Amino acid sequence: MGKKKVAVLISGFGGNLQALIDACAVPGFPAEIAGVISNKAEAYGLTRAKNHNIPSFVVSHKDFKTRDEFDAELHKKLTGFGAEIVCLAGFMRLLTPEFVNKWQGRMINIHPSLLPAFKGGNAVEDALAAGAKKTGCSVHYVIPEMDSGEVITQREVEISAGDNLESLSQKIHTQEHIAYPAALKIVCGKL
Ligand code: GAR
Repeated sequence: MGKKKVAVLISGFGGNLQALIDACAVPGFPAEIAGVISNKAEAYGLTRAKNHNIPSFVVSHKDFKTRDEFDAELHKKLTGFGAEIVCLAGFMRLLTPEFVNKWQGRMINIHPSLLPAFKGGNAVEDALAAGAKKTGCSVHYVIPEMDSGEVITQREVEISAGDNLESLSQKIHTQEHIAYPAALKIVCGKL
């Protein structure tokens, strides 16, 4: 069976993108990265894509009047890549239900908590503020409701007394970079 073509959507640093690039470089891994899209021109992840000769595009939400128009352009780019699976990797835009439904079962996201705990954009801060003893990361299918689709895999992180936002984020990132390739492999196996 051929490798599944994956598109990765990013907004920033691209640590998870790099983990996916590295996993795809391992012989026998069932996916290849066909393209990267960022909604931010300054995202360092775009440099990572270029370093590995992966086609990349900026689709800035600021260039579109409505979410529908933005998502339509994303969809056009994704089909242009021949994408079969979409990985959201630190992509910080809400997507319309219409767009999400088009990719049902084929779009996944990584989130820095053990879902359903700590949904939303401040998951690491929220876990610290709640005094939780553990948190982690989840890779899940994307459905229209934010951070709510079926979980594919999770990895735990202990929160120590001395942890702050930076140290805890670092611990979570380390686990994310293991979890995301593992989840992608599982999804490939189901398609
Ligand atoms: C990751 O920690 C990811 O879980 C988080 O953004 C970071 C992106 O890092 N995503 C969310 O918070 C989504 N709600 P990266 O750009 O280095 O991959």
